[in-house]
Amino acid sequence: MTETRRGLFITFEGIDGSGKTTQMHRLAARLREAGHEVLETYEPGGTPIGVQVRRILLDAANQELCATSELLLYFACRAQNVVQSILPALREGKIVLSDRFTDSTLVYQGVGRGLGTEVVLALDRICCQGLRPDLTLLVDIDLETSLARAHARNRTLRQADHAFSETRMDDQAADFHQRVRKAYLELAAGEPQRVTVVDGRGDVASVEQAVWNAVAVRLGKLHV
Ligand code: TMP
Repeated sequence: MTETRRGLFITFEGIDGSGKTTQMHRLAARLREAGHEVLETYEPGGTPIGVQVRRILLDAANQELCATSELLLYFACRAQNVVQSILPALREGKIVLSDRFTDSTLVYQGVGRGLGTEVVLALDRICCQGLRPDLTLLVDIDLETSLARAHARNRTLRQADHAFSETRMDDQAADFHQRVRKAYLELAAGEPQRVTVVDGRGDVASVEQAVWNAVAVRLGKLHV
C-alpha cells in the first residue's frame, strides 16, 4: 500500500507526439547521474502481460473494440503494472517514472470517448490501491505539431515492418485529439500542486531543462 512507500512517483502526460517519452528517458538519465535509483515504465504496457494487452489496444486492425472494453483494458494493464512493478519499486525507495498513468484515461476515455470522469476514478480506486503521482509533467504542444510527429513516427514504424501497426488511437479524428488536449489543460489548471505544464514546442534541451527544474523543486521538497 502507498503508506509504506518511500520512493517518488512521477508521471509524464501529453497528447501523442508531444515528446514526453524522449523527455522521460532524459530525466531518468539525469536522475541516475545524480545517484538516484530509477524505474522507467509506460502504459499501456510496462509488464509482460501489459505488453500483450497493449497490442490489443493499439493494433489498428482492432476497429471493433468498443469504448468500454478499451477502458477496462487500459485499467487491466495499469492494475498489473501497479502490483507487479510500480509499488514494489516505490517500496524499495526508487524514483518511478511512468510514461502515462490514470490522467491519460481521464482525458482519452473519460473526455475523448465521453465515458465521464466518474467511471475512470472508480476504476482507479479499484486498480491503483490509492497510488497517485507525486508529480505529473504535462508536456503540451499544439495539435498540428502533435499529429505531424505522430504520423512521422507511425510511418517509421511501418517501414520498420512491425508485425502490426500501433495506430488505432493516433488514427482518431482531429477533434478527438483536440478534446483530449483541452481536457489535459483543464486537469492541470484544477491540480496545480501536482501537475506542471511544460511547453513542449521548444528544442529538446530546453524542454529537458524545464522538466528538470520542476523535478528539482519536488526532490528538494520531499528530501529524497
Ligand atoms: P503512447 O503512444 O504514449 O504509448 O500511448 C498509446 C496510446 O494510448 C495513446 O494514443 C494514448 C492512449 N491511451 C489512452 O487512450 N488511455 C490510457 O489510459 C493510456 C495509458 C493511453
